[in-house]
Amino acid sequence: MKLARYLSNLGYGTKRELERMLESQQITLADGTVLRDSAQSVPPHSELRVMGKPLDPPPGAVILLHKPPGMVCSTEDQNPLVYDLLPSRFRDRSPIMSPVGRLDRDTTGLLLFTDDGQLLHRLTSPKSHLPKRYVAHLAESLRDDAAEVFATGTLMLTGETTPLLPATLELLEPRVARVTITEGRYHQVRRMFAAVGNHVRMLHRDAFGPITLDGVREGEWRVLSTSERESLNVAIEAARATRASRKAP
Ligand code: URA
Repeated sequence: MKLARYLSNLGYGTKRELERMLESQQITLADGTVLRDSAQSVPPHSELRVMGKPLDPPPGAVILLHKPPGMVCSTEDQNPLVYDLLPSRFRDRSPIMSPVGRLDRDTTGLLLFTDDGQLLHRLTSPKSHLPKRYVAHLAESLRDDAAEVFATGTLMLTGETTPLLPATLELLEPRVARVTITEGRYHQVRRMFAAVGNHVRMLHRDAFGPITLDGVREGEWRVLSTSERESLNVAIEAARATRASRKAP
């Protein structure tokens, strides 16, 4: 790929804008060497500088955001967007840095983004059974049999035709529960608690497969390391194998 196209795909501007930036010596290497030729091949990503600054993560990155309440997982809405918390270039990348699934507007916590289409598919496909862990603050004390009901694999949500897969429920306080699900149906956790006669007042996701929010404060984000990405891939395979073995006669 040519340099101008590479930088354009990372959201640094149109090809024409990048040609102008190259002409005005705004694209350099770490040692200060000025790059002028938009058609030149791409130097190592870590060596490139735009206006003296290192580049955003290279194509194929995974970002972790600690989502605050009141923001929507969309590129357009009347409410504030999760993209408002990230560099605007992330929305302009090609492919775009997409959220991995969605959290409701008022759900807080761990939201991944990636521009790796294959990984996005593996993480969001209905065949992906990666565990996702939530803490729910409830309006009422939980029914005694709620954990049993969630674990059966027979719970049917209103308007659906297939029962939910088994989910685990742990009571942390009389009205605070930790729940782990392996699917991603619409408003799933809120609807599960509604199905056992309760109401979720606050919902927070603190883990997505092996990835946790540890150390990332609300509104902040970071790039996953190569080993964290690898751990996601391992977890996807493990979750698929577990699901397949449960299905086997
Ligand atoms: N389940 C919900 O009900 N809401 C979310 O945001 C995520 C899971």
